[in-house]
Amino acid sequence: MQLISCFITHPAYYYVSLFSMIIIIGGLFLQIQWRKRFKYNKEWYLPPGSMGWPFLGETLKLYTQNPNSFFSKRQKKYGQIFKTHILGCPCVMISNPDAARAVLVSHAHLFKAGHPPSKEKLIGPQAVFFQQGAYHSMLKKLIQNSFLPSKIKNSVSEVEHILLDLLPTWTNKTINTLQEMKKYAFQVAAISAFGTTMEVEIEEICKLYRCFEKGYNSYPLHIPGTSYWKAIKARKLLDESIGRLIKRRKESGELGGGILGELLEAKAKYKLSDSQVSDNLIGVIFAAHDTTATALTWLLKYLHDNPILLEAVTKEHEGIKIKTAQQNRGLSWDDTRQMPLTTRVIQETLRSASILSFTFREAVEDVVVQGYYIPKGWKVLPLFRSIHHSADFFPQPHKFDPSRFEVPPRPNTYMPFGNGIHSCPGNELAKLELLVLLHHLTISYRWQVVGNNGDGIQYGPFPVPKHGLPVKITRRNNIFT
Ligand code: HEM
Repeated sequence: MQLISCFITHPAYYYVSLFSMIIIIGGLFLQIQWRKRFKYNKEWYLPPGSMGWPFLGETLKLYTQNPNSFFSKRQKKYGQIFKTHILGCPCVMISNPDAARAVLVSHAHLFKAGHPPSKEKLIGPQAVFFQQGAYHSMLKKLIQNSFLPSKIKNSVSEVEHILLDLLPTWTNKTINTLQEMKKYAFQVAAISAFGTTMEVEIEEICKLYRCFEKGYNSYPLHIPGTSYWKAIKARKLLDESIGRLIKRRKESGELGGGILGELLEAKAKYKLSDSQVSDNLIGVIFAAHDTTATALTWLLKYLHDNPILLEAVTKEHEGIKIKTAQQNRGLSWDDTRQMPLTTRVIQETLRSASILSFTFREAVEDVVVQGYYIPKGWKVLPLFRSIHHSADFFPQPHKFDPSRFEVPPRPNTYMPFGNGIHSCPGNELAKLELLVLLHHLTISYRWQVVGNNGDGIQYGPFPVPKHGLPVKITRRNNIFT
C-alpha cells in the first residue's frame, strides 16, 4: 500500500499517465478515421480490373475481339471475379462457380435481371426474363406448366412431324444449317406458344416475328429506316395481331393450348393485360428460337468432325428404329429416355458451345460476394462459358469428349440452362428437339461441310460456326429404306 501511494505521488506517475492518455485518445481518433475511410471508400473492396476509357469503358475491346479472349485475358490478369465497364455500365464479371451460385441462387433476391434496356424495349418489358419477386414467380409457374414432362411427353410426335416435313426439303441440297435449324426451332416454339390450332393470326404473327428478329441484333438506333426501328415497328404490329388472337379465343370460348392457353386461363385471376400476355409470348418464342437453332447447328458440326462418334450415335438410333419399325409407330417419350450416348453428346455440345456465354444481373443493393464489394446498380455477369471451359472442372476443355459426362460434373459448374429462379423452363423441350433431329438425321442422312467454313466462329449474338455452317445433305443407305 505504502509502495503504491509512494508511486502515485512520484512525478514519473504523471508522465506515464499523460503518455497513456495520449496513446488511448490517439488510438481512438485513428480508429474513427480508419472506420470512416472504410465506410466511405468501399472501392477498396471492389474486385480488381480496369474500367477502361471514360464513358466508353472497355466496350470497344469487348465488341472488336473474340469475347472469349476478352474474358480469359482479364481472368488471367485479375482472377475469377473482375470489374470492367461495358455499354455505359460498371460491371462485375464472375467465372467462379460458387460466386455465380451466390448471384443466381442463394443471394438471388439481391440481384434483379439486368438486361440492356434496348433489348427489354424490343422483347417487351413485362416478359418473364425482366421480372423479379412475386410477379416473376407467378409468370414462371404459368410458363413452366406448359413444359412439365407430362405435357412435353405429348409433344414428341408434334416435334417429329415438324422435322419429318422439313427433312425432304434438305435432301441432296446444300443448306445453311443455322437458317434451316431456325425454321425447325421456330415451328416448335410457335406450337409451344400458341398450341397446335392454326388460326389465321398465327401465320401473320410468324411473318411479323421474322421482321422483328432481324432488328434484334442490330445496333439500337431509333432512326427511321434502321433495322432496329423496323423491328420496333414490327413489334407494335405483333402486339396488335396477338390482341386480335386473344379476342378471337375469348369470343369463341376456346382458350386453346400452349402458353397462350395457360395465360388466358389465368388472365382474370391475376389481372393480366393483353400486353402482358403478348410480351410473354414474344419472350418465349425469342428464348426458344435462336438458342435451340444454335445448339442444333453445333451438334451437326461436332458430329461431322468426329466420324467415329457419329457412327456410334447412329448405332444407338438404329437400335431404337428397329423397335419402332417393328411396332409400326413413331418415336415416343420413353424412346428418348433410352439414348444414353446421344444424351451425353448433347450435354457436351451444350458445354462446348455454351450458347448463352453469360447472363445479366444488377445489384439491387450494396452486396458483398466472396469478399468483394459490388455497389448497388452495378451489372453482374456470371460467365457460363468461362466456367464450362475451365480446365479445373472440365479437363482438356477444348476437346469434344462426351465421355466426360459419364460422371456428373461438379455442382454449379455446368449451367447451359442457367441456374436458380431464372433458369430455363424450356430445357427439356430443347433437348427433345435435339434428340428427335439426331434420331432421324443419323439413321437416314449424312452431311458434309461445304467450303472453307469449317473452323471459324461468328458471334451474332450467340457463337455459331462461320456462315451458319453450310452443309451438303445426302441420303444414307440403311436397313430401313
Ligand atoms: C438449347 C436451347 C436453350 C438454351 C441454351 C437456353 C438457355 C437459357 C438460359 C441460360 C436461361 C437463363 C437466363 C438467365 O439466367 O438470365 C434461359 C431462360 C429462359 N429460357 Fe431458355 N434456353 C434454351 C431453350 C429454350 C426453349 C426451347 C424455351 C421455351 C420454349 C426457353 C425459354 C426460356 C425462358 C422463358 C427463360 C426465362 C426464364 C426466367 O427468366 O425465369 N428456352 N434459357
